[in-house]
Amino acid sequence: MSTVVNDEKIPNNVNLSSDKKLQRALEAWQPNFISWWKEMGPAGFQTDDVYLRTAVDVGQEGWAHFDYVKMPDYRWGIFLADPVKDRTIGFGDHMGEPVWQEIPGEHRGTLRRLIVTQGDTEPASVEQQRLLGQSCPSVYDLRNLFQVNVEEGRHLWAMVYLLQSYFGRDGREEAESLLERRSGDENKPRILGAFNEPCTDWLSFFMFTFFTDRDGKFQLLALAESAFDPLSRTTRFMLTEEAHHMFVGETGVGRVVERTAHLMKENGKDHPDDVRKLGGIDLPTIQKYLNLWYSLSLDLFGGEVSSNAASFFANGLKGRAKEDHYDDHKALEGTYAVSRFTDGKLITEDVPLRNAMNEVLRDDYVVDCQRGVDKWNRVLEAAGVSFKLTLPHRRFHRHIGLYADVFCDPTGSFIGKEAFEAKQGEWLPTEADKTFVLSLMQKPIYDPKQMAGWIAAPRIGIKGRPVDFEYVRHGEA
Ligand SMILES: [Fe+2]
Ligand SMILES: [Fe+2]
Repeated sequence: MSTVVNDEKIPNNVNLSSDKKLQRALEAWQPNFISWWKEMGPAGFQTDDVYLRTAVDVGQEGWAHFDYVKMPDYRWGIFLADPVKDRTIGFGDHMGEPVWQEIPGEHRGTLRRLIVTQGDTEPASVEQQRLLGQSCPSVYDLRNLFQVNVEEGRHLWAMVYLLQSYFGRDGREEAESLLERRSGDENKPRILGAFNEPCTDWLSFFMFTFFTDRDGKFQLLALAESAFDPLSRTTRFMLTEEAHHMFVGETGVGRVVERTAHLMKENGKDHPDDVRKLGGIDLPTIQKYLNLWYSLSLDLFGGEVSSNAASFFANGLKGRAKEDHYDDHKALEGTYAVSRFTDGKLITEDVPLRNAMNEVLRDDYVVDCQRGVDKWNRVLEAAGVSFKLTLPHRRFHRHIGLYADVFCDPTGSFIGKEAFEAKQGEWLPTEADKTFVLSLMQKPIYDPKQMAGWIAAPRIGIKGRPVDFEYVRHGEA
């Protein structure tokens, strides 16, 4: 077990004080991070006491501490999962060799890019969500939003630790740039598309934490396999926190669905207009938000056929999720069937498995998403509502890869640009839909006893506290 130090400026289990140079570099970055947090973190709640979980260790039990904290005082720390004794590389050309504690020179640039790309998503999501507190449906949800936000901040720390420890001056410059880019800013955007999309209403927030944080889960699972051991250990611990983010998304959407179903049954209404009049979010609108965030998140896995993905795998930089579930860790023999459109016709061709690693990871992601959608459908079924939510086909509304320039309907059929544009208002949120959803969220709820009318209350609270616990003591309520 590594020793945990929580009384230094930067809590850590990496023996930071033994490396004065690194410690100084991180302590120099810390005030810049705090300035970024105050500028770009949750707007309007920086002086409130929030009941938050803080990572203090990496053990199975008691890794986190729950208490009230003002967000700028949150103890963002550096925690790596305990090393696996005699760990060897689990896939690719170097399979079976000892993992690396230092970065081989030839992989420096590529690993830096991988770490920066992952790191960039963490502050980006905080920026995307910074105004949401001002329209929260309950104090319980407000707290969950802030929990996600501070942990994304810690994930940034996790990546910056790697950059500053292993990449010298380049790493320090990258660490600064991570605080300089801004989500949605044309001049200095975040690196990946979905992380520049506005997320200004709570339905989008729940879809984001369900679909987009889940991309994060699979990227972390793939990086947890990395031959670069510090990256593997860092991402393994990040996954512990990530689970809560997806819980927020899954239960969040589930509660919206539950509330809508309840309003429909209670009032004997099926028509979306009637559901809206009752103050609920109608199911077709929920489906459109699902279509949007799912398709944006599918893009995050990259192109279907990718020589980069093949070389990441060959070199042991990035594996498959749960690599030990596979039999063949070299992936030199297999092929993967990929479909592409040529003149509007779908052609399927086999590509070498290594070149399809993005698609393999996307497959796992799709299965995981479907599991959540099934759960939401069980809520509808239990309420006696026949509507079913569905994941659109992965060819629908894509901007990256083989389907970026083709126009498919949600079943994946090629329909062409004109037909797509004529129909897209049925599949993706329109301005009118967005205005309606926002209209339900005009007034924030800061009274712990209340819950907005468009969402059901959760079953249980956080860490054994009641649902109506004062999770956030909001000053100017
Ligand atoms: Fe994260
Ligand atoms: Fe997350």
